[in-house]
Amino acid sequence: MSRFVLPGAIGLALVGYRGTGKSTVGRLVAGLLGREFLDADAVLEARLGRSIRSVFETDGEAVFRDKEEAVLAELTSKPGQTVLATGGGVVLRPGNRAALRRFGHVVWLRADPAVLARRLRHDSARPPLTAAGTLAEIADVLSAREPLYREVAGTVIETGGCPPSEVARLILTALIPVACEWQATTGQGG
Ligand code: S3P
Repeated sequence: MSRFVLPGAIGLALVGYRGTGKSTVGRLVAGLLGREFLDADAVLEARLGRSIRSVFETDGEAVFRDKEEAVLAELTSKPGQTVLATGGGVVLRPGNRAALRRFGHVVWLRADPAVLARRLRHDSARPPLTAAGTLAEIADVLSAREPLYREVAGTVIETGGCPPSEVARLILTALIPVACEWQATTGQGG
């Protein structure tokens, strides 16, 4: 069977809370689609020559969000062809949500707070987002963000007990109707 081809004009972006596997899964999906993988946070850190945690600590979250918005605008302005993993808070700004929708198809990787707390428990690289810490922080921040993830997402994948390879396979399956609809609408092949 030939490899599934997502039409080049359709960008693919992954959104979701920290610990949902956006980078790991994004890299796998990019490999399966034969596309370049871009991680918006990694691009930002490479440009600044500093960690995101250090930007939060030294300059504050608002400065980080400005830089995040600028990198996202740049990465989503190129037409399709890439798989883009985004930072968990990228959906907070309306301009970012609009940029993601223009870019192409957005997949929201979801998981319950308890699952995320387990996955993130040994993580010290990420900056804290509230004073609450761990499970309480995740539950609060996630419930505030869920409507925003839902607003941008064309596909929602429950990552709960799934290994990254299985999540990647679920994403590819979800992309089949997206590609068919695009072909029907534009009259073009992949
Ligand atoms: C953030 C998530 C992080 C990073 C920054 C802020 C957030 O990305 O962008 O620490 O607000 O949830 P990951 O989701 O890749 O950890």
